Amino acid sequence: MQVPALPKRHHTASVWALYALGLLPAVWTFYLGATGQLVGNPVKIFEHLLGEWALRFLILTLLISPIRDLFGVNWVRYRRALGLLAFWYVTMHFLAYMILDKRLAIDVIVEDIFKRWFITIGMAAFVLLIPLALTSNRWSIRTLGPRWVQLHRLIYPIAAAGALHYCLSVKVIGPEQLIYAGIIAVLIGWRLARPRFMAWKRGKRPAYGRVAGESPRTE
Ligand code: HEM
Repeated sequence: MQVPALPKRHHTASVWALYALGLLPAVWTFYLGATGQLVGNPVKIFEHLLGEWALRFLILTLLISPIRDLFGVNWVRYRRALGLLAFWYVTMHFLAYMILDKRLAIDVIVEDIFKRWFITIGMAAFVLLIPLALTSNRWSIRTLGPRWVQLHRLIYPIAAAGALHYCLSVKVIGPEQLIYAGIIAVLIGWRLARPRFMAWKRGKRPAYGRVAGESPRTE
């Protein structure tokens, strides 16, 4: 099945549309919370929503490569936006925790980060995401060269830490946690198996030229 290609002139607009659409769940839930329309504990609901969307965007970021490898659909142009959305959601999740949940009680926050394992792991994932977000621009890609690819491979342990943080944040691990953790485990497995798969695929392909649409800055 051939996925219809978006005309090139719409590429930039589609990336901006993704940013706008991606931020919608946060903006909408914040609005509902601020206007008293969230039933239950609005701070917890907001904090949870931000955490879940952070994980979803991490997964979507990781899905771009396998989709291209397996189905030949090149959505690499959306990867930076998806990665940055993941980073912004984690940042908002962290801010919601610090400001709305803990009301900037720094002693409690520091104690949480060092004593509650799931928060330590979440914090580690957040800290590791910062250099990735800071280097997600053309200048860094050019300047860092092959080191950029190595640095951005951190996205895999970050996603694994995010899933572990989610599993450990609940008293009993349920289907939701297992689904997120399972998807991330499969994506990490795919990344490990990918060199063999690509070698096998290349063996089947004519030796000349690159495949149309293949991006040089992704492996
Ligand atoms: C990559 C980084 C992170 C990801 C992907 C992430 C994701 C999540 C997810 C999915 C949940 C569960 C939401 C639910 O129950 O529906 C959660 C809960 C939580 N996260 Fe994170 N998180 C991250 C980093 C952090 C950081 C840096 C902090 C604070 C230092 C933090 C604090 C919390 C807290 C306190 C909860 C539990 C809220 C509660 O049930 O009381 N997280 N996180």
